[in-house]
Amino acid sequence: MTDPADFYTGIVAELYAPLKSYSQDPAPYASFVRQAGVPALELGCGDGDPLIELRRQGLDVEGVDSSADMLERCRRRAEAGGIPVVLHHQRMEALDLPRRYRAIFLAGPTFTLLNDDAAALAALRGIRAHLADGGSALIPLFVPPPTPADQLGQSRTVTTDDGAELTVRTVSVERDESARTQTTLLRYERRRDGESTAVDRPWQLHWYTRTGFTELAATAGLTPISITGPDGSAAPPDATSLHFHLRACG
Ligand SMILES: C[S@@+](CC[C@H](N)C(=O)[O-])C[C@H]1O[C@@H](n2cnc3c(N)ncnc32)[C@H](O)[C@@H]1O
Repeated sequence: MTDPADFYTGIVAELYAPLKSYSQDPAPYASFVRQAGVPALELGCGDGDPLIELRRQGLDVEGVDSSADMLERCRRRAEAGGIPVVLHHQRMEALDLPRRYRAIFLAGPTFTLLNDDAAALAALRGIRAHLADGGSALIPLFVPPPTPADQLGQSRTVTTDDGAELTVRTVSVERDESARTQTTLLRYERRRDGESTAVDRPWQLHWYTRTGFTELAATAGLTPISITGPDGSAAPPDATSLHFHLRACG
């Protein structure tokens, strides 16, 4: 069983960018950092979206990720663009950095990759401990919708410039409403010149109720400044995507 923090390694890190269907808009994160202040820290920065764009805009933002392979890709992209980056190979639930930050954020609902409330609490405690006085955190969350039955077996394929065919396929999905988890078994495959490499990886998401997350944050010494929709508007009670803006309390 792959540790959730190691999901984006090896062939999955290699295929992540070409197969990704959606890139986070950097604008809300640039705006959060400008408001909250620098230095800033992106948790789960992966191969550099939106970290590299924020650095290109001159913002002092560092990155953390649990995957050395994703960080290596981030480093190479930044180097190619002539943009200096500071990257840390750490798990967000075991954060231990010498600096304190005015802004700590995740871009998109990467926090849901932490597979249970204990890991989430450890990450929230780490965030609290790394906030400078008056600093704040932005944590986007979402409740994934159940996967429709007709999506099982479906795949997405792209062909790269060097002629390799890259495919990701949904093999199976298990959902546990009481544990608030959904585990999707994904098969990643690269085919080139008649040779094929494939790996099956369980992609686990763990979600929160609004009240449950507020309570976890309070246990870690954090309190919401606001809870909004992703566009900053007031979120209706049944919203499935929420941005928690938190600051230290007590
Ligand atoms: C969906 S990717 C997002 C990467 C990038 N922000 C983007 O939008 O392209 C999630 C990233 O979070 C990292 N990650 C997953 N679990 C982590 C953990 N426990 N601690 C730190 N990083 C983690 C993964 O290695 C991966 O690079």
